[in-house]
Amino acid sequence: MAKTIAITNKKSGVAKTITAATMSYLLTKMGYKALLIDYDG
Ligand SMILES: Nc1ncnc2c1ncn2[C@@H]1O[C@H](COP(=O)(O)OP(=O)(O)O)[C@@H](O)[C@H]1O
Ligand SMILES: [Mg+2]
Repeated sequence: MAKTIAITNKKSGVAKTITAATMSYLLTKMGYKALLIDYDG
């Protein structure tokens, strides 16, 4: 079953991207598949 994790904050430069990238990397190391979408809209 797929799960969605959202890391959100209205401010820029508060480590959203680095947190998402690190979490994705660690999830794959744990054996999960991870799709990372880093979006600034
Ligand atoms: N734990 C941390 N300690 C020091 N610098 C950090 C840390 N996390 C992120 N940064 C730095 O802060 C800046 C902004 O991080 P970023 O993840 O791009 O923020 P956002 O995606 O919220 O705009 C980057 O230059 C990044 O290297
Ligand atoms: Mg970012």
